[in-house]
Amino acid sequence: MQDIIRQLEEKREKARLGGGQKRIDAQHAKGKLTARERIQLLLDDDSFEEWDMFKEHRCSEFGMDADHTPGDGVVIGYGTVNGRLVFVFSQDFTVFGGSLSETHAEKICKVMDHAMKVGAPVIGLNDSGGARIQEGVDSLGGYADVFQRNVLASGVVPQISLIMGPCAGGAVYSPSMTDFIFMVKDSSYMFVTGPEVVKTVTHEEVTAEELGGAVTHTTKSGVADLAFENDVEALMMTRRLVGFIPGSNREKPPAVPAIDPADRLDQSLDTLVPSNPNQPYDMKEVIFKMVDDGDFFELQPDYAKNIIIGFARMEGSPVGIVANQPLVLAGCLDIKSSIKAARFVRFCDAFNIPVVTLVDVPGFMPGTAQEYGGIIKHGAKLLYAYAECTVPKVTIITRKAYGGAYDVMSSKHLRGDVNFAWPSAEIAVMGPKGAVEIIFREEKNDPAKIAEREAEYKQRFANPFVAGARGFIDDVIMPHETRKRVCRSLAMLKDKELENPWRKHGNIPL
Ligand code: HXC
Repeated sequence: MQDIIRQLEEKREKARLGGGQKRIDAQHAKGKLTARERIQLLLDDDSFEEWDMFKEHRCSEFGMDADHTPGDGVVIGYGTVNGRLVFVFSQDFTVFGGSLSETHAEKICKVMDHAMKVGAPVIGLNDSGGARIQEGVDSLGGYADVFQRNVLASGVVPQISLIMGPCAGGAVYSPSMTDFIFMVKDSSYMFVTGPEVVKTVTHEEVTAEELGGAVTHTTKSGVADLAFENDVEALMMTRRLVGFIPGSNREKPPAVPAIDPADRLDQSLDTLVPSNPNQPYDMKEVIFKMVDDGDFFELQPDYAKNIIIGFARMEGSPVGIVANQPLVLAGCLDIKSSIKAARFVRFCDAFNIPVVTLVDVPGFMPGTAQEYGGIIKHGAKLLYAYAECTVPKVTIITRKAYGGAYDVMSSKHLRGDVNFAWPSAEIAVMGPKGAVEIIFREEKNDPAKIAEREAEYKQRFANPFVAGARGFIDDVIMPHETRKRVCRSLAMLKDKELENPWRKHGNIPL
């Protein structure tokens, strides 16, 4: 017996070493942690249960029958984050560059299947040279098995991808179908084809970092949600993210005891909106002052900055925040911001997270670039997302809510549950200047007359009371009591039930 125990320990020790000390040192020299070190930081101490530590590949091509490493380049299992169950896979770059073999894929599928059965998030730590070249189509089949599970798990259990090394070729498509992507600056990249292929096909010279690094994907493409300085920061922020989301679509998001009083007033909000409607202000101030303890977990902060998305808590319960940002492009909706917010609203809806929407939007962005880019279709994504969304929806119009954008931004007409306006709200088909220039076109050469018409229009429409008279706004509230009124509304909506008609699936304008 002692002998067998010793053998087991030896086997475990060998598996823990992965591709060997030399390759571990090389990994550290690149500023990267190993697969196991990452899991240790991600999960609560001593909570990790590892599976398939001894699983090996079955390939015999290109001398592979003589080259076996227990675990086959991926560490899998489950553990807890602040006491809550999560499943995890962590690719080990020290074993064949973390490349995905048939058996490596089977291990990933195993944790995904279990996560679906018990209802817990899947966190993938990606660090891989892509398909295991020696295995050919077996490896491609393995990828497709993972893709299929990504799709079946979508909207059932949250899926989070950390990109912590190379992620190239078809390998990017598994993370791309997960709910959140975090990247590490200077050591991770994602692209469909690398710089060499790009050079051959399009004659562009570009570095891996420029083509698919963390900064590129969090500022230019919007593929990734957040970029971090190093592995440790990315892992700590993943723990934070997990704190806002439920284990599955069958659960409510995790509430914590509330310390910040729900009836806390903030007088400074009364003077936040400038009297000049063309002057911007920072919508993040409203968010920070409204949510519990000013704690806002923003996603995609450097992409489509004209809309803000992220998680916060109100009276201890998680909410998704969507807010126009008047500081950038006057807060208008364009292609990128519509897509960014639409996907976030759909995540919240799928996982029972109420959506709080702050509105200051002058409309959809005009111009050929937007029209040729398909703003009609992409703007409709946000409209569709809000309209199909059945979780509690609370909306506050702080200033402008013009045109189609008024409808889109969680209006009463799209089943907004509670819709508030600040006294500074202007709810109309368009701004006074544009409106007067159209309806009083014949007076356009008479500046005095036009100014008079504008003043008249402002007086008539640039306020919240016309919408209030129709019941499209439930109440006009003082800015300083925003938190209190939103907390009350969310408490009232706690047990909201609303179902959309049965269908196989809708057809969101993709
Ligand atoms: C097998 C691989 C491998 C792979 C790397 N290795 N990628 N083994 N299959 N795909 C091995 C290397 O042979 C090496 O082994 C070790 O991993 C580390 O690799 P290095 O090249 O030394 O590391 P580095 O210089 O950091 O470069 C990392 C890399 C590069 C950029 C990822 O290795 C690379 O370009 N690999 C190939 C990438 C690729 O083309 N993959 C296929 C994409 S197509 P030793 O023994 O020396 O340590 C694809 C299709 C999926 O993925 C389709 C799904 C639909």
